[in-house]
Amino acid sequence: MKIFIDSADINEIKSLNETGLIDGVTTNPSLIAKSGLNFIDAIEQICKIVDGPISAEVTATDADTMILEGKKLSKIASNVVIKVPLTVDGLKACKNFSNENIKVNVTLCFSAGQAILAAKAGATYISPFIGRLDDIGADGINLISEIVDIYDLHDFKTEVLAASIRSVQDIVDSAKLGAHVATIPPKILQSMYDHPLTDKGLNAFLKDWEKTGQSIL
Ligand code: G3P
Repeated sequence: MKIFIDSADINEIKSLNETGLIDGVTTNPSLIAKSGLNFIDAIEQICKIVDGPISAEVTATDADTMILEGKKLSKIASNVVIKVPLTVDGLKACKNFSNENIKVNVTLCFSAGQAILAAKAGATYISPFIGRLDDIGADGINLISEIVDIYDLHDFKTEVLAASIRSVQDIVDSAKLGAHVATIPPKILQSMYDHPLTDKGLNAFLKDWEKTGQSIL
């Protein structure tokens, strides 16, 4: 499973990218607003840091303007992926981009029916929002399961990108179900490393090693 960072914070992206485990980045208008950065500059900087797909979202609501915005964004760097919302116009724009071999991430997906339409429109990625479904008492992980099954059954090439992730368990569940990508907020990605038994075990090993009086170097 590929790991994307769900953030527009340049310092966080830089530091997480140093792990060598990052395959891409997703941004959205809220994340850009939170970063306080100019949108185009932010995408340009992120594209230079991470060698992988970087999602940049259009903000128009009609297909024609989405296409103009997407074309401008795709000129920033060769690894830009255009993000469009799952609306009639968003999918019209998606179809247009995919006809021109421009990669598209279809965002704000909350149902399997929507995911079928996105695949038919040639989306490179579909982004089902797990956390926001859970927030309203629905089952976000079940949506991942439905979409993975449908795409497998019909051999759709669209990759399932688990988004709106709230916990490490969301990532593990998405991985078990066969999601191709998880886009992970930096804090949750950091916490994937953690286990109290790792800390406890390492402390014990280091104490015992000290007793030997040896050094490797
Ligand atoms: O990038 C889209 C998605 O991951 C948003 O997550 O936490 O705002 O629901 P969230």
